[in-house]
Amino acid sequence: MTDIPTRHLGELAVSAQGLGCMGMSHGYGAADDAQSIATLRHALDLGVTFLDTSDFYGAGHNEQLIGRAIAGRRDEVVLATKFGFANRLGEPTRIRGDAAYVRQACEASLRRLRVDHIDLYYQHRVDPQVPIEETVGAMAELVRAGKVRHLGLSEAGARTIRRAHAVHPIAALQSEWSLWTRDLEAEIVPLCRELGIGLVPFSPLGRGFLTGRYSSVEELAETDMRRSQPRFADGNLERNLAIVAKLNELAAAKGVTAGQLALAWVQHRGDDVVPIPGTRRQRYLEENLAALAVELSAEDLTAIEAAAPPEQVAGTRYDATNLAFVNG
Ligand SMILES: NC(=O)c1ccc[n+]([C@@H]2O[C@H](COP(=O)([O-])OP(=O)(O)OC[C@H]3O[C@@H](n4cnc5c(N)ncnc54)[C@H](OP(=O)(O)O)[C@@H]3O)[C@@H](O)[C@H]2O)c1
Repeated sequence: MTDIPTRHLGELAVSAQGLGCMGMSHGYGAADDAQSIATLRHALDLGVTFLDTSDFYGAGHNEQLIGRAIAGRRDEVVLATKFGFANRLGEPTRIRGDAAYVRQACEASLRRLRVDHIDLYYQHRVDPQVPIEETVGAMAELVRAGKVRHLGLSEAGARTIRRAHAVHPIAALQSEWSLWTRDLEAEIVPLCRELGIGLVPFSPLGRGFLTGRYSSVEELAETDMRRSQPRFADGNLERNLAIVAKLNELAAAKGVTAGQLALAWVQHRGDDVVPIPGTRRQRYLEENLAALAVELSAEDLTAIEAAAPPEQVAGTRYDATNLAFVNG
C-alpha cells in the first residue's frame, strides 16, 4: 500500500479515506469483536488515521471497542464521534441537543473511548426542539475546555449549517453521499464550500449495495437493519440491481471492482471530501483503500453517473420515520 494522502476538513488534517466503524457494533448483523479490533489496528498500520463512531452504535459498544483497539496508539488517530440519539436502536427515535445533554454525552463518550479529548465531535441529528445556537454553544464550550478539538454536524440542513457556523466554525458535515444518494449536491455542497466546511460522505458504498455483494434481501441477517430500508425492501433491491450491473461492466473495463469505482467516484467530488466506507474485514479495508489510486477521467465520471440516474433508484434512502430527521 502506498502512502495515503492527507486531506483537510476545515483545519483538521485526516487521511483521505476514513474507516466507518458502525457495522462493528450495529445495524448490519452479528459482528466479531476480535475481527473488528484486528481490522481497526490494520487500518492504523496502513495509515488510515480517521476513525468514525457514535455513542449510538451498539449503545456505546462501538466506542468501547475503538477505545480498546487504539489503546497505546491514541496519537495515530483522528477520532470522530457523535451524540444526539437519546434512544436505543429499535426504540422510537428521540433526539436531544440541549446543552446539559451535550455535556453529559461528551463525558460518557470520553469514558468509553478511554481518551481525554475527541478530535471531531458531531451532532448526529439536529434536535428540532432546541435552537442550534444552544447546541453548538455547548459544543464550543467543550472545545474551550479541551475536551473536543473540532465540531461537526450530520444531516443538517442549509439554514442550520449557517446558524451553527456563526456560533463556532464547523469543520465537517457528515451526510449520506454516494452514487445513489446525491441530494447534497444542489445546495449543501456549495454552501459548505462557501463556508470552508469539509464533507464526510457516509455510506459511500450505498450500505454495501454498490459493491455488487447483494442480489437478494435473503442474504442479509434477520437482524440487519437494511431489511427495513426502502432501497433493500419490497422488491426494490432487485430493481436496483440494474445499477450494479452497469457498475460491474464499467469496473471490469478499468480492472477494478464495482465498490472501488463507487468509492473513487465519491473521492473525485473534491479535495475537501473524505469518505468513510464501513467494513469489519481487513480484505475489504484493503480493497477500499486501493480505490484511492483509481483515477477517473471526465468520460469515466459521466459513464459512472449514467449508471445510477437518481430517477432510476428504487426506494428512498430511509423510511419515512427516519427521513423526518435528515436535512434538519
Ligand atoms: N451520520 C450518520 O447518520 C451515519 C449513518 C450511517 C453510517 N454512518 C457512518 O458511515 C460509515 C459507513 O457507512 P455504512 O457502513 O452505512 O455504509 P457503506 O460504507 O456504504 O457500506 C458498508 C457495507 O459494505 C460492506 N463493504 C465494505 N467494503 C466492501 C467491499 N470492498 N466489498 C464488499 N462489501 C464491502 C460492509 O461489509 P462488512 O461490514 O461485512 O465488512 C458493510 O456491509 C459507518 O460505519 C458509520 O461510521 C453515519
